[in-house]
Amino acid sequence: MSRSFPNTRMRRMRAHGWSRAMLRETVLTPADLIWPLFVTDGQVIEEPVASLPGVSRWSVENIAKRAREAVDLGIPCVALFPNTPSESRSDDAAEALNPDNLMCRAIKAVKDACGEDIGVLTDVALDPYTSHGQDGLIDESGYVLNDDTVAVLVDQAIVQAEAGADIVAPSDMMDGRVMAIRMALEMGGHHNTQIMAYAAKFASAFYGPFRDAVGSGDRLKGDKTTYQMDPANGDEALAEIALDIAEGADSVMVKPGLAYLDIIWRARQRFDVPIFAYQVSGEYALIEAGAAAGAGDRDALLMEKLVAFKRAGSAGILTYHAPVAARLLSR
Ligand code: PBG
Repeated sequence: MSRSFPNTRMRRMRAHGWSRAMLRETVLTPADLIWPLFVTDGQVIEEPVASLPGVSRWSVENIAKRAREAVDLGIPCVALFPNTPSESRSDDAAEALNPDNLMCRAIKAVKDACGEDIGVLTDVALDPYTSHGQDGLIDESGYVLNDDTVAVLVDQAIVQAEAGADIVAPSDMMDGRVMAIRMALEMGGHHNTQIMAYAAKFASAFYGPFRDAVGSGDRLKGDKTTYQMDPANGDEALAEIALDIAEGADSVMVKPGLAYLDIIWRARQRFDVPIFAYQVSGEYALIEAGAAAGAGDRDALLMEKLVAFKRAGSAGILTYHAPVAARLLSR
């Protein structure tokens, strides 16, 4: 008997709430979420980020409170990003290697407050520390130098691991950095420090509010197209992911999120490591702005988008909506 009307009525299974719940294919939980947090120096407790309504930079002390909030909400991991003071930014990003920098103090504060209750993910890239806002060291023409940058990223990752980072996440898109970082971590005795590689990171227009939050936006000259990927390329994304896995990445990331679900799906078919999606700042801001302008119910909009990442095959999602979503999920 063929599957046809009226033997088959697809609506039969949608007719009741219990049936819809029983047949739901994808279930989002707070454990799927990673919460990105911005840290700022000094005594200010909370500094709202204008282009990210509802998101603030927090002092080191308050970052620990946010991490505790994450634990209480069932969120297993926070991602930290520093807004380095202007006077500590330089062409050579030396502050990235200072074991007492804002990032390291924030890592320690979270680990002191929460210990094993939460994972701390740290961004490995130089943009919050360079005077020019690029993710690496530049030559006279402004070109970002690959191998010279990798040497600094390795030291940066070690400094973060020594401060207590559980997952180092290179977001710089230099070639060969995952292998170099893995080797240095092994040699430094950090065998259990994970690497989540921003493997397929696109040169995106959706990063604007993040650059405001870490203070690199106004400094940035030019763009990042000589290292981040062309949004038109899917096969190349798979090649990037394959390389990072071969170099020792424990998990990989696709970034931004919603416009790149096909990359997540394709990577999921081909590789056996966990794939994370980063729903980036511009995506968050669009949902907030859209809801404020009457485009839809904010909570419904954001939950629909988050479940889509999981349906597409991601193991988890970095999202600024993490605390809001976790609260909605625990209702
Ligand atoms: C820095 C970095 C960026 C983001 C995460 N790490 C910005 C960039 O590459 O310019 C963007 C995150 C977001 O927009 O939420 N290497």
